[in-house]
Amino acid sequence: MNIIELKKINKFFGSGANRVHVLKDIDLTIEKGDFVAIIGQSGSGKSTMMNIIGCLDVPTTGSYKINGVEAGKMNKDQLADLRSKTFGFIFQRYNLLSSLKATDNTALPAIYLGLSAQDRTKRAIELLKKLNMGDKLNNRPNELSGGQQQRVSIARALMNGGEIILADEPTGALDSQSGKMVMEIIKSLHEQGHTIILVTHDASIAAEASRIIEIKDGLIVKDERKASKFAELKDKINKIQKHKFEALKDGFFESLNMSMHAILANKMRSLLTMLGIIIGIASVVSVVALGNASQAKIMERINQMGTNTIDILPGTGFGDRHSNRIKTLKVSDSDYLAKQGFIDNSTPNVTGSGTLVYGNFSATATLRGVGESYFDVKGRKIARGRIFTNDEVNQMASVAVIDDNTLNEIFSDNPNPIGEIIIFNKKPLKVIGVTEKDNNPGPMSESMNIWTPYTTAMYKINGSNDINSITVKVSDRINSQVAEESIEHILTSLHGKKDFFMINTDSIKQTIESTTNTMRLLIASIAVISLIVGGIGVMNIMLVSVTERTKEIGIRMAIGAKQTDILQQFLIEAVLICIVGGALGIGLSLLIGWAFNTFSESFGMDFSTSSMVLALVCSTAIGIIFGYMPAKNASNLNPIDALASE
Ligand SMILES: Nc1ncnc2c1ncn2[C@@H]1O[C@H](COP(=O)(O)OP(=O)(O)OP(=O)(O)O)[C@@H](O)[C@H]1O
Ligand SMILES: [Mg+2]
Repeated sequence: MNIIELKKINKFFGSGANRVHVLKDIDLTIEKGDFVAIIGQSGSGKSTMMNIIGCLDVPTTGSYKINGVEAGKMNKDQLADLRSKTFGFIFQRYNLLSSLKATDNTALPAIYLGLSAQDRTKRAIELLKKLNMGDKLNNRPNELSGGQQQRVSIARALMNGGEIILADEPTGALDSQSGKMVMEIIKSLHEQGHTIILVTHDASIAAEASRIIEIKDGLIVKDERKASKFAELKDKINKIQKHKFEALKDGFFESLNMSMHAILANKMRSLLTMLGIIIGIASVVSVVALGNASQAKIMERINQMGTNTIDILPGTGFGDRHSNRIKTLKVSDSDYLAKQGFIDNSTPNVTGSGTLVYGNFSATATLRGVGESYFDVKGRKIARGRIFTNDEVNQMASVAVIDDNTLNEIFSDNPNPIGEIIIFNKKPLKVIGVTEKDNNPGPMSESMNIWTPYTTAMYKINGSNDINSITVKVSDRINSQVAEESIEHILTSLHGKKDFFMINTDSIKQTIESTTNTMRLLIASIAVISLIVGGIGVMNIMLVSVTERTKEIGIRMAIGAKQTDILQQFLIEAVLICIVGGALGIGLSLLIGWAFNTFSESFGMDFSTSSMVLALVCSTAIGIIFGYMPAKNASNLNPIDALASE
């Protein structure tokens, strides 16, 4: 039965004036189980014919049937399938992958067949042992002699069955001793039923074959049969039936494995490639963490200003130059507001600075006249003593609460200031309480502050009924925006015009939130640009890598890799580089965060899982986007061109 049928095969190379006619109307049939030698001078077209038979190349015109099926009608996957399952190639220059051990080189074709790692290693070891390579299983090609490498390549050709063995000058690079051994192996393969097609220009080697075909200038000039030995092929590889999903999964893990191999084989370059991604991801994650932490810190400070409080001040807004002189707010305004259902309490505030005297100590201090609810509203805590009562406010009691600064300044050698009398602007005040230290840097944190009932401040100390501001605490169940509008309405109708403005901690919060979000978005988009630059770096290196590994791609295709296998391998490599880069970037960012949180008090970082997950998703996407083009290039390579590259 004819396994190979060539009819009127023509092959041209080049175009125009450089067009050469290499194969001329070749008609050739080869029977199953035959041993054919093709001889001819250098340049006569032997390799070209061999490559067409092995489906590595296509004829320009003519029909080529393999096992009765027209090869010209097959798609690329079907051709890859043929190379994988039917043909076994033995090359003059072995074409082993230099990074793989003998067993792995041998087992390579079975990956594309879908054999499990365990099964293929077992078979590879068996084949190598049969070829007397049992003691070199773990050697890489550069640790093997030429003859040994050729035996590995024979084992590889047999891995998937190798029904038709195509050997192009298998002994061409070997000394006569090794050449003899290789020929012995090839002869025994013929006896085991393999169809052998051997190209040589050595007549003595051709003499071993059953049939000798001579080519000259692209024409068959001699076809001579010397023997007829046709054995039945015994060593047949059973078809591997797999569920589609399982095949996909296995293929994925094989590609992953190969990619890891490739990345680890070029550690330094891989790391440099990742650098762009590492920096990009680290900056995105860090910026978000820094933003989170500073926002949280600002919010904490705002919350200390009091929750759901509204400050009402005279004038038209901050920066109103006349606001000091405008005295439009009255105690009655505060009293009126306090009666409203949506307001929990309201206190007028009077502020003034003056001289504080105690014993022979004298300094400038700030006095604030406030209501008894002030401390609660503003979140000021008392460290010692107590705050004044409502009765004391009503009775204009001469009592004062001092802050931590005042305590340290004037009572440095008096352990118990409670009950002491201090003099402010010549008016005596009895100290009844001390506030806790204010940890927030701000206008009040350095100076000395004293609080008295606002009545005392107005009538006893200032001698006027002017007030500086009103602080209102809105009920928790009322929306502060609504409360603000209501207050504005009430006071405007009381005063006849709007001669005041309000500071609402809630709206400050919202403003800060939206500003920090905008900032974060801005910085994150800069970081995204750096990620894109990183991605372009990955693409660049992948393109270089594909060019550098064209030979490897050619070998893989020759032994049965489909385009999708190659695409997948390089794409996964790019994605893997990006994901590892992303993970290292997150790690770097966490390290920076740890350093910040440990060594800096004013800065902190607050990492969120979502930003890290997003970063990983981003780096995966970058890998896919920027890895696709190089991977596609690799998979589109023509097997014979890729194989011919050095
Ligand atoms: N890709 C190509 N582009 C252009 N010309 C080519 C190409 N491949 C082969 N040729 C030409 O085709 C002719 C046959 O080449 P081929 O490799 O088949 O020769 P060969 O018989 O195998 O020779 P050798 O014994 O030296 O290996 C040569 O003249 C060669 O220059
Ligand atoms: Mg050749």
